[in-house]
Amino acid sequence: MAKKFNIDLDLEQKVDALISQMTLEEKIGQMSQVRHFDDISPEDIKTKYIGSVIHTQGPLPGSNAEEWQEKFAMLQKHVLSTRLKIPLLFGVDAVHGQNTYEGATIFPHNIGLGATGNDELVEKAAAITALESKATGFNWVFSPCVAIPMNEKWGRVYEAFSECPDLTSRLAKASVKGHQGHGDTGVMATAKHFIGDGATDFGVEGGNCSLSREEVVERLIPPYQAAIESGVASIMASFNTLDGIPMHAHKALITGLLKNELQFDGIVVSDWKAYSRFGRNDIINAGIDMVMAVDGDLDDFQEGVKSAVLEGVISEDRINDAVRRILRQKFRFGLFDNPFPDKSLIGKIGIPEHRAVARQAVRESLVLLKNENQVLPLKKNSKIAVVGPFANNSGLQSGGWTINWQGNTESYQGATTILEGIRKFSSGEVIYDQDGTAEVDDVDVAVIVVGENPYAEFFGDIGGEMNLFQLTLTEEHQKYISNYTEKGIKTVVILISGRPLVITEQLEQSDAFVAAWLPGSEGDGIAEVLFGQFDFKGKLPHSWPKSVEDYQGKFGPNYWDNSIEPLFPFGYGLNYQKNTSS
Ligand code: GLC
Repeated sequence: MAKKFNIDLDLEQKVDALISQMTLEEKIGQMSQVRHFDDISPEDIKTKYIGSVIHTQGPLPGSNAEEWQEKFAMLQKHVLSTRLKIPLLFGVDAVHGQNTYEGATIFPHNIGLGATGNDELVEKAAAITALESKATGFNWVFSPCVAIPMNEKWGRVYEAFSECPDLTSRLAKASVKGHQGHGDTGVMATAKHFIGDGATDFGVEGGNCSLSREEVVERLIPPYQAAIESGVASIMASFNTLDGIPMHAHKALITGLLKNELQFDGIVVSDWKAYSRFGRNDIINAGIDMVMAVDGDLDDFQEGVKSAVLEGVISEDRINDAVRRILRQKFRFGLFDNPFPDKSLIGKIGIPEHRAVARQAVRESLVLLKNENQVLPLKKNSKIAVVGPFANNSGLQSGGWTINWQGNTESYQGATTILEGIRKFSSGEVIYDQDGTAEVDDVDVAVIVVGENPYAEFFGDIGGEMNLFQLTLTEEHQKYISNYTEKGIKTVVILISGRPLVITEQLEQSDAFVAAWLPGSEGDGIAEVLFGQFDFKGKLPHSWPKSVEDYQGKFGPNYWDNSIEPLFPFGYGLNYQKNTSS
C-alpha cells in the first residue's frame, strides 16, 4: 500500500544509541505531553523527563511573541539541564494560521480551502502557518484534520477539507508539505483524527463509526496514505469508536494498518486526556506513542505505564518503539541541533505578504450558488445596505479555534471585516444596518450577512449534548433577509458557516447567494469578488442539503450515497462568465 521508505541509517543509529542510555522513567517521560501551566512546574519538566509541552485554552504563555518564546526557551533550558538533554516538542492547534495568537494571519478554515481546491495555495497557507507558529515558539502543529465528514450535524465539519477522499488527499499532501517542508521554518504536522472522526452515526463528536472495514479503507484511509507518503511527522488518534472499540485502543488499525501496513514511522499521538478515558495501558499496547497526559492524568500515566512494564503487561519493545518514533522526529526536525525559537521570525507575524495570501484564499473559497437579475457584480456607485452583525465582526467570520478554543464573538487585532471591504471598494453610499431593522427603502441592493456563531468540537454538534446550533438559519437571521425582500429590494446573501446549512427558502427569496464558509482575518477579500475585481472560483467541497429531512439517517447527502438528492452536488459553483456551474 505505501512505498518503502529509505531508512536513514545514520539517524537510526543516533536514535538507538540514545535509547540504549535511557532509563525506563526517562523513556516514559518522553512519551508524556503536558500543558505549560497547570499540569507541571518547570521543575517537574526535569524530574519527570517530559517529552512535549502543549499550549491550549487557558493562560497565555505571555503578552507578546517575545514573551511566548521566552517562556518556552525557559522550559527548554530545564530539559537541557537533565542527564540526556533531550529537547522538548512544543505543540499547538494552529489549524487555520497560528490561531491561538492574536495578531497572526488567520486563514479560511479547511472547508474553505477545500472549496478553493488549490494545492499550491494550501501549501503556501501551511508554510505561513508554520512560520508564524515557529515565531511564537512552537515546532509542532496539530493540523491538518483530514476527516471525511459525512454528516453536517457534526461540530467539526469545517476543520476538514471535504467529503471527497481524492480532494482531501490532494490537499492533505499540500498541507503536510507546506507545514514541514520549508527548511528551518518548518514544523511537525499532524494528520488527524485517526480514524472515523467525521463518519460517526448522526455526526456525533466522539460517537460510533459503523462503516465496514471496506468502507473505511475506501473512504477514510486515502488521506492518511497521502499524508504518510508526504512524510507527515505525527498522526493523532480519534475520540470515536469503530467496531465498538475506542480508536485509541484499536491495535489492528493503529499498529496493524497504520504502522505495519502503511509503514508510518512517525509519532502516533493521543488526543486529550486519553490515558484515563480510553483504557489506560490498552492505548499504549494498541500503539499510541505519546500521550496528552493532561487534566490530572500525568502521574497516573507515568506510574501506570511503569508498573505495567515491570509486570510485563506492556513490553519494553513497545516502549522502545514509542520512544524511537519520538526521538526520530526530534532529530529530523533539528531539535538536537537548535532547540530554541528564532527571534528573527517574530517580525513576520501577520505581515501584509502573509495577509495577501490569506485574502487570495478567501476570494478563491467563495462559492456562488445563485446570481439572478445581474445583481452581482455590485456596481461601485450603487447605494448599498450592509446587514447583520456578521458583516462587521472579524470574530464571527472566523469560527472556532480563533484566539480562543470556542472562537471569538468580537473583532480581533489585524483582521478586517466584510463591511470594511465593501466600504473600501464602493464609491457610492454604504449604510450599515447592524440588526436588520433600519428603515431603508431607497437602496439599490442589500448585502445581508448571515450565519452560525463560532463553535469547536462537540459544542457544534447539532442535536448533540449541547444542542446549541441548528441545520437552518436562526429566526433572527431569516428576518434580516425577509425584511429586505418584502420591500422588493435586491438582495445578496453571504452565508458565514462551518458547514452547508438548509437554506432552500432563503435561496428562493434572494437574488444572489454566496457560501463564504469561515474566511478568517481577511474579511475584506470578499468585497474584491462581490465588486467583480476577481471572479468566483470556489466549488462546493460538500454535497449541499435541501431539507432537514435529509438527516433522518446516519449521514447527510454525500458523495457516495445518491439516495439523498442534494440541492447542489459536490463540485457545484457558478461564476461571472457562466451562470451555470462549470
Ligand atoms: C482536542 C481535539 C484535538 C486537539 C487536541 C489538543 O480535544 O480533539 O483536535 O488537537 O484536543 O487541543
